Amino acid sequence: MTVKLLSDNPIIGIDLGTTNSCAAVVDETGKVQLIPYKDGSFTIPSIYAVNDRGFELIGQEAKRQWQLNPRNTIYAAKRLIGRSPSDDIVDAMRESVAFNLTPGGENEVLIECADRQFRPVDVSAQILNKIRVVASDYLRLPVRRAVVTVPAYFNDRQRQAVKEAGMLIDLDVVRVINEPTAAALAYGLNKSFSGNILIYDLGGGTFDVSVVSVRAGNIFEVKSTGGDIFLGGIDFDNVLIRAVLRDFVEKHAIDLADDPVAMQRIRDMAERVKIDLSSRAEASFNLPFVTIDQSGLPLNIDMRLTRRDLDTLMAPLVNRTLDICERVLAESGLRAEELDEILLIGGQTRMPHVQDRLTAFFGKAPAKGINPDEAVAIGAALYAQTLQEDSPVKLQLLDVIPMAIGIERADGQMHVVFPRNSPTPNAKSLITTTSRDGQTSLCMRIYQGDQARARQNELLGEFLFSGIPPAKARSPKVQLTFQVNIEGVLSMSAQDLATGKRMETRVKIGAK
Ligand SMILES: Nc1ncnc2c1ncn2[C@@H]1O[C@H](COP(=O)(O)OP(=O)(O)OP(=O)(O)O)[C@@H](O)[C@H]1O
Ligand SMILES: [Mg+2]
Repeated sequence: MTVKLLSDNPIIGIDLGTTNSCAAVVDETGKVQLIPYKDGSFTIPSIYAVNDRGFELIGQEAKRQWQLNPRNTIYAAKRLIGRSPSDDIVDAMRESVAFNLTPGGENEVLIECADRQFRPVDVSAQILNKIRVVASDYLRLPVRRAVVTVPAYFNDRQRQAVKEAGMLIDLDVVRVINEPTAAALAYGLNKSFSGNILIYDLGGGTFDVSVVSVRAGNIFEVKSTGGDIFLGGIDFDNVLIRAVLRDFVEKHAIDLADDPVAMQRIRDMAERVKIDLSSRAEASFNLPFVTIDQSGLPLNIDMRLTRRDLDTLMAPLVNRTLDICERVLAESGLRAEELDEILLIGGQTRMPHVQDRLTAFFGKAPAKGINPDEAVAIGAALYAQTLQEDSPVKLQLLDVIPMAIGIERADGQMHVVFPRNSPTPNAKSLITTTSRDGQTSLCMRIYQGDQARARQNELLGEFLFSGIPPAKARSPKVQLTFQVNIEGVLSMSAQDLATGKRMETRVKIGAK
């Protein structure tokens, strides 16, 4: 069956996930169609590998061989996109993956795979390309445009990197939108729904929470958002893996952490047991012949776990999500009783403990009938439809920026231009001047984050404005205008108020 579309140049919606990706498109009747992958599944593993014969494998093929080829199988690249090598998160990631991470130019991390070096954005580009190929085959037309979702808690640099990933494969990322916002659209767009929704999105790699107020099914206003881009199902797996390694050390005095093949098998089994315990009260963690002891005898991992054991292990991670929920709810200005729906998105929300804790926390059970794996792609497709030429669907969407954006003052403090949760699109101007006689250019550093000291935040770039006529210190008046578009992406311009001349803007992204 072919899906009939209104346009032969459609914009599809893509949920580019840490562990799984999903794509959808709106057909000519206005219905959302998920793009099927293999075996009727709608999700594509976000995994890239190079096998021992030098062939690239992406998606299911890459996942199938990752136990045997852990060093050359890249997963969770989304966790590294737009990040500095000096980031603590990169060190934490290094401990849990089998591939090597090294610092690269442009303040980026490089991933080593099959004697080559990849930027995280290259890997994301390959995964996007795979999704595009699957979608083009299914729709029987070339797909050139997409709306791609990102965690709400992504900063400007990470958003730009996703757009760049599209550019690398000639896919026009017409817009990036926030994952929880997309889920809200999937829930409420065109359904004459009015009310306040809280979206709790716990996926493979990231946690996001947003409070969205919906009016008449087509006005969506994000009130507040927050999250942790290093908190997801992978971290739940890591907690279980550490418990298994500890148990093995106690029993056999052998640390398996240095054995990449054993670790890969443990990682796979940890995820499987975790998922099993979402539907069963008990599960066994069995891995035969995981290593050998000093006398050459094979050793097995043989543990039994109850759901309660798992809940105890994972409670601290769930607590972290609830702390963030509490803050985001307070910042939305709403009380828990004013929330009409709680939406659970992301595979990790299938864990009963997560659902129970949320029900207790909000005093209300989460909404039923939403597929946590598909809602984000569905929302992205619905949003894409509103951007399509002559779209019949009208949507008014106001989102927010997840962290403050500002400039570094002379004393090193952050001068906040847009506070956290400022609505987007947005623009702000400020007047600045020179500090030396004859100074013809101004240089400033733009940061994003909520720390008081600028340098503790993420450096978005260094901006150099030149062409100021020479004059006495502090006499020129330069107006800087900062704009954040609906995507949460920043742009800047400057104007010399004396001459009226708009000034040249030079941007050095990621300089440090
Ligand atoms: N039944 C289940 N019980 C517990 N966890 C599950 C279950 N099913 C899937 N998961 C976990 O959900 C995670 C994947 O979720 P999902 O596909 O929503 O993430 P993603 O979209 O790839 O990541 P992100 O949104 O963070 O970028 C994995 O860690 C997986 O182990
Ligand atoms: Mg997701």
